[in-house]
Amino acid sequence: MCGIIGYVGKQDAMPVLVGGLRRMEYRGYDSAGIALVSGGHTAVVKRKGKITNLADALTAKKPTGMTGIGHTRWATHGVPNEVNAHPHQAGHITIVHNGIIENYADLKERLIKDHGRKFESETDTEVLAHLISVKREKDESLEAAVLSALLEVEGTFAVLVLDERDPDKIVAARRGSPLLVGIADDAIFLASDATAVIGHTDRVVYMEDDEIAICTPGKYEIIDFKAQHKRHEEQQIKLELKAIEKAGYDHFLLKEIMEQPKTIADILRGRLDLDAGTSHLGGLNTDPKFYQQMTRFLTIGCGTAYYAGLLGQYLLERMTGLPVDVEFASEFRYREPVVNGHTLGMIVTQSGETADTLASLRELKRRGTRTLGLVNVVGSSVAREVDGGVYLHAGPEISVASTKAFTAQVIAQILVGLQIGRSRKLSATDGKAIVRALEALPAQVQSILDQHERIKAISAKFADAKNVMYLGRDALYPVALEGALKLKEISYIHTEAYPAGEMKHGPVALIDEELPIVYFHPKNDLYDKTRSNLEEVRARGGRLIIVGTEGDESLKEFSDDVIYIPDAHAYTQPILANIPMQLFAYYVAVSRGTDVDQPRNLAKSVTVE
Ligand code: G6P
Repeated sequence: MCGIIGYVGKQDAMPVLVGGLRRMEYRGYDSAGIALVSGGHTAVVKRKGKITNLADALTAKKPTGMTGIGHTRWATHGVPNEVNAHPHQAGHITIVHNGIIENYADLKERLIKDHGRKFESETDTEVLAHLISVKREKDESLEAAVLSALLEVEGTFAVLVLDERDPDKIVAARRGSPLLVGIADDAIFLASDATAVIGHTDRVVYMEDDEIAICTPGKYEIIDFKAQHKRHEEQQIKLELKAIEKAGYDHFLLKEIMEQPKTIADILRGRLDLDAGTSHLGGLNTDPKFYQQMTRFLTIGCGTAYYAGLLGQYLLERMTGLPVDVEFASEFRYREPVVNGHTLGMIVTQSGETADTLASLRELKRRGTRTLGLVNVVGSSVAREVDGGVYLHAGPEISVASTKAFTAQVIAQILVGLQIGRSRKLSATDGKAIVRALEALPAQVQSILDQHERIKAISAKFADAKNVMYLGRDALYPVALEGALKLKEISYIHTEAYPAGEMKHGPVALIDEELPIVYFHPKNDLYDKTRSNLEEVRARGGRLIIVGTEGDESLKEFSDDVIYIPDAHAYTQPILANIPMQLFAYYVAVSRGTDVDQPRNLAKSVTVE
């Protein structure tokens, strides 16, 4: 979702801004623009569509300046077009903004009535630009104007503000949307995420809510909304440039699917204890007594992270004997949630910035619930605000559709389950079996990835499908949901997922000779029951793609399109079953020619509710 970049320094700002925007393309956007200040004048260039359109326009216009701001917009107020694209201007003031100004209609009315302001766009951001401009007429400094404007604003924002009369300064502010300050000797960078500044600096400060940063070349000062000076520890970003490049793959999505043997090894490294049949997690940050006394897990996430939580529900209940409730963050945040001091709130998120997930975390904390974050992005808002955490160590996930983070989110829950389970009902023998199963995972996943040509061939047969149904039972039901989500997101094919045993209560009506059905049927405790459901599907003529266990020749009677996964422990089997579905979705999408890494309308990091 919207990406923000700013530069104030001694070099030409344009390459930094355009480069930063390209790095943040993955967040999802529909238009882009930049503003550069030079000689008391601001040049603004914006375009609908991809950054390439903006870059072409910049090559033609060649604006220059050593202070500038840039933005990729994911439309909220007003359609994606050039007028609504950021930056927005009001007099000498130019701003870019991520978030939503909820009271923009009231503010706009007042600005028109009391100040005769005129508006060009349909955006809430232009209202904020005018509000700052009006304040600037009275206030001494740009930062004072920004502060007094923001005190009147309801909603969320990460905002960068330029004033062409003060050309060596950018004022930045944050509430609810991510923003970091990158520090170099003679320049300051501002960005929504660290990927935009790698290669320029590895020194960053993460801004907190209700803070303002006043930035000049090589210097910054942070104040809060009471104008009090704030100090933050500088952090070192450990990301390398090559981690955010495609490494020879056609798409980030394929790269991220293929690197899972490594990312799985990374999340497990140093955390498994075979002798004790448990895990060691350094960041739980909680008195072990809490885990003995806790009475319930409450897992919260959105999208793929939510499905990882649903899968975790099946596993954690078995490992710990505790009830696990899983909630969509967007639903949870406005309920009257019933929690108590013995509930563990588990926050599952790749980005650590999803607005609904973050709001749910804050709601839990407000109610005194202990929270544990399963988070990929180091230093993200969720990572900083939870009581304890397990980093996913999956590396940057650039493709909008989440793959390696899902795998890591499930594994993280097994690691948590091992530790809490061993202090409760999980025996050492069962714990050891789970540890062994986890150790075997990288090689098993690799063996599935090695079948990519076969999975590609199967995908080609289904590329013209209009609908696809996914069926699975028990922990394979969330895998069906996640497989269906993946295909829907990147190929735009309508999909649905159902528990295989529930299928006869409705979806069975959809089955005809045309309907492709992905059916999860590996060897497990419910194998015979799942076989009966498979017979029911076959009797109605669906085109089956079956995911089964290596050596199970009986599946070939049902379909030519069987994808085999290695025999595995019941807790790692769902992780393995999901891998071919990632490849299946990828190859179907490639055949259909969709924008695989940045599918239409979607955003990677959904920072508005
Ligand atoms: C968006 C992304 C999904 C992701 C979801 C939750 O919808 O497109 O891929 O699963 O947000 O994101 P999070 O960063 O909280 O895991």
